[in-house]
Amino acid sequence: MSDQYRPDDLENVTIAYTKDKRIVTCFCGQEVSRSIVPHLKAKHSAKWQEWTETFVELRALGYPWKRIMRLFKAGDGKLLFSWTVIERAVRQEVETGKLLYVPPPKQAVVRWQPEDFALETTTVWDFPNRGDWAVHSGDYRGNWPPQIPRNLIERYTQEGDLVVEACVGGGTTLLETWLLRRQGVGLDISKLAIQTTNAKLNEMERLAREDDSISLDPDYRPKVIEGNVLELTTVLRAHDIGTGQAKLVCIHPPYLDALKYTTNNSSDLALISDPDVFCERMRILAREARQALSADGICGVLIGDVRKSGKTVPLGLKTLEAFLAEGFALESIVVKMQHKDRSSEFYVRRSSNTLLLAHEYLFILRNVQPWW
Ligand SMILES: C[S@@+](CC[C@H](N)C(=O)[O-])C[C@H]1O[C@@H](n2cnc3c(N)ncnc32)[C@H](O)[C@@H]1O
Ligand SMILES: [Zn+2]
Repeated sequence: MSDQYRPDDLENVTIAYTKDKRIVTCFCGQEVSRSIVPHLKAKHSAKWQEWTETFVELRALGYPWKRIMRLFKAGDGKLLFSWTVIERAVRQEVETGKLLYVPPPKQAVVRWQPEDFALETTTVWDFPNRGDWAVHSGDYRGNWPPQIPRNLIERYTQEGDLVVEACVGGGTTLLETWLLRRQGVGLDISKLAIQTTNAKLNEMERLAREDDSISLDPDYRPKVIEGNVLELTTVLRAHDIGTGQAKLVCIHPPYLDALKYTTNNSSDLALISDPDVFCERMRILAREARQALSADGICGVLIGDVRKSGKTVPLGLKTLEAFLAEGFALESIVVKMQHKDRSSEFYVRRSSNTLLLAHEYLFILRNVQPWW
C-alpha cells in the first residue's frame, strides 16, 4: 500500500501463525510471541512514540480505525495491530491532554431520521444494521445502536422532557435527544468520549445549517459533562439540574473490564475486574439514578454477560439485582440480540462446547415511588 504515512520499517516485519501461536519478527530481527507492542515500547520507544503520533494525526485527518490497521500491516500483508491497540495509543494521548480529538466526519447525511421506524412491541429487540441516519456512526468502541435510545425516548418521554445519559460514550443518545427535541444531558468519565460527542454534535449542527430539510432547535442542544456517574446528582446540581426531574435515565455501562475506556482513571467502571465490586458500584449508580428521576420516571440499562477465563459471569442478572435492591420496579427485561462476541470467539475456537454469547439485556425499570 503506498501511503506517505506508512513507516518504512514495517516492510521488514513479518508474522507467522502456528496452531496456537502468533510469532512476530520485528524489523530488528527479534522474534516475539503474540503482540509486538511490549517489545516496541521496551526496545524502540522513540519509534513507538512516532507511530503513535501518526495514529493520532491520521484520526484527525479522518482515517477510520480499520484503515489505520490496514496501513500499519506487516511487510507480509498480515495485520500487525488490532483496533484495540491503536485506539488505546490514541486514547492515552487524549487523556494526557496532548490532543483535542475529532472523530472522522461523515461525508454526507443521507437521511436525518430513520426510514420506517416503528417502536418495538416485544421483549426481543434485534437491530442487525446499526442505524446510520443523521451523523450516527459506529466509530466509538462499544456503542449502542441509535434504535435503542430512540425506542426509550419515544416510548417513555414527551417533547421537552429531561433525558439523562449516564455513560455518554460516542454520543449516540444525545444525538437522538436533539433530533427528538428532548433536553439531553450526558456524562462520561473519558475525555475521548466527551471530545467525540462534542465533535459529533458540532458536526450535526454544521450539516443541519447547510440543509433546508432539517432544523435543529438550539434550545435542545444537549449538555455534555465530563463527570463521574457515581456522583450523578452532585454533578447535575452543579449544572443547575435538581433531583427528581429526569423522565428517562439511560445507562450503558462498561461490561466489567471487557473493554477499557481510560488508562488509570480511578472512577472508570471499566477498570473493575471483580464482579462483586462492579455490582456494588451498580447499586450506587441505581441510587443516583433514582434520585435524578421523577416519580414514575424510567431507567433503561443495557448490559451483557461476559466470559472470563472461559467461565460465564452473569453480569446482567447481577446488575438487575442491584437495581431492584435499590427499589426500582421492573417493567421489562428486553433481550437484545448481539451480533459479535469477541470475548467468546476466542474460547469457542478452543472448545466446541462453548456457546457464543448472542444477547444482551436491556432492563427497563420504573421509579415507582419517590426515592425519599
Ligand atoms: C459502553 S460505553 C457507552 C456507549 C454509548 N452508549 C454509545 O452509544 O456511545 C460505556 C461508557 O461509560 C463510560 N464510563 C465508565 N465509567 C464511568 C463513570 N464512572 N462515569 C461516567 N462514565 C463512565 C466509559 O468511558 C464509556 O464511554
Ligand atoms: Zn525490535
